[in-house]
Amino acid sequence: MKKLLFIFSMSLLMSSAQMQAADTQKYEAKNYDGLLGKVEGLDDDLLKMHFKLYQGYVNNTNTLLEKLQELNASGKNRTPEFAGLKHMLGWEFDGMLLHEYYFDNLGGSKKALDAQDPLRKKMEADFGGFDQWKSDFMATGAIRGIGWVVTYVEPKQGRLVNEWITEHDLGHLAGAKPILVMDVFEHAYITQFGIDRPKYLDVFFNNINWDVLSARYQKK
Ligand SMILES: [Fe+2]
Repeated sequence: MKKLLFIFSMSLLMSSAQMQAADTQKYEAKNYDGLLGKVEGLDDDLLKMHFKLYQGYVNNTNTLLEKLQELNASGKNRTPEFAGLKHMLGWEFDGMLLHEYYFDNLGGSKKALDAQDPLRKKMEADFGGFDQWKSDFMATGAIRGIGWVVTYVEPKQGRLVNEWITEHDLGHLAGAKPILVMDVFEHAYITQFGIDRPKYLDVFFNNINWDVLSARYQKK
């Protein structure tokens, strides 16, 4: 009987510890209200709606991790439910993280990327010039479909690559470092620009925070 009580108490302690671990590992949405009124050409209403969508990715990432932990703890991880949640995790997690990169690289001071900046030098080395890098980036952003455009530093040779990401999770380069992230889901522009994506691409480009990009590029 004592042994049974001991096992019961231990299982209570373990589930309490697991719940605590889940609590401490929860992701918190970042506050981007500082962008309101600062992104020339993008309406605050559009940004506020976008912040709410971002919050949804944060919430869903937390929910998925919690549910997966519950299925592991209850020995129900060889189930279709577990597999389905695992499939969703990358989509929600990348949705959360890509939005943070996106909002963080908006709101620039209209200052161009300095001619001597290491990132600009790298664009020139890898693309033949800043304009050529931009042309490739914007053409990638014009690809039909919903997703993201990411300028990466790939990990093999340190080359800059503009990559198309389908939805949030298909097309990432393993181990690559994101430098510039642009949202081209329709929710990022359609309520303000309709289907005029080229207009949105220009507005986005004019509001890039180059200081953030340069710091990302130079961070070891
Ligand atoms: Fe978005």
